[in-house]
Amino acid sequence: MNDRHRQPDRQRSEGTSDGRLVEIHAQIAREKEEPREGFSLTPIFIVFLFCGFGFWAGLYLTRNSGDFSASAFDLDVPKASASAGPAVFEPDAAKGEKLFVANCAACHQATGLGMPGAFPPLAGSPWVAGTDERMIKIILVGLAGEVEVKGAKFNGNMPNIGAGLKDAQIAHIATYVRSAWGNQGEPVMDTKVAEVRKALAGHGQFSPQEILKAHPLEAK
Ligand code: HEC
Repeated sequence: MNDRHRQPDRQRSEGTSDGRLVEIHAQIAREKEEPREGFSLTPIFIVFLFCGFGFWAGLYLTRNSGDFSASAFDLDVPKASASAGPAVFEPDAAKGEKLFVANCAACHQATGLGMPGAFPPLAGSPWVAGTDERMIKIILVGLAGEVEVKGAKFNGNMPNIGAGLKDAQIAHIATYVRSAWGNQGEPVMDTKVAEVRKALAGHGQFSPQEILKAHPLEAK
């Protein structure tokens, strides 16, 4: 194209005619592809891929954002739900059984039969039947002194096992004890345990006289 400017002498000496130049240009134009501007169309499937990805990301965020709450990953925080209010407590004898084995069975035995001369039975015990307050109180602050359970005398000392347990745990245990081994007591609520715990604040171990005065054993 600029041959003419670069080598004017040679062109002239070889006698390259203007006609010949035009012919060469035409030949070059025919054989060489025109250079393109530096872009080509993005393949359409990549455009769709990106749109799809953006859509998926939006869906993922709306479903899994946990409302962007700081406690979204804290399993112990009750899930806030506008209608349900605070989580409702369900007395659970199965949970109670596990807690009983861990906290009570060392003395009262898994069979609930206790140990003659040492630990009174809970199976068929009138102390466990009727009002749930008697039992909740014994679990919370303990019992010491001579008692008679199912015709047998005991003079032992039960510590305040319940002081280290939560209201709900005690409710589960009491619910279990009152329904196991043929016992037939109503389930116990955690709110009842909380109420009794509050009323007993600072109270030491019960003597049999004191607890039986407040909650006489019911005749069967
Ligand atoms: C360290 C041993 C020990 C543990 C643990 C224990 N108790 Fe007792 N419990 C006793 C003794 C001893 C008595 C009798 C106290 C007395 O003679 O004055 C008793 C009495 C009772 C009574 C009243 C009498 C009866 O037999 O009905 C109940 C109810 C009772 N315990 C429930 C429980 C429950 C529920 C647990 C577990 C949360 C528990 N105890 C854990 C030793 C224990």
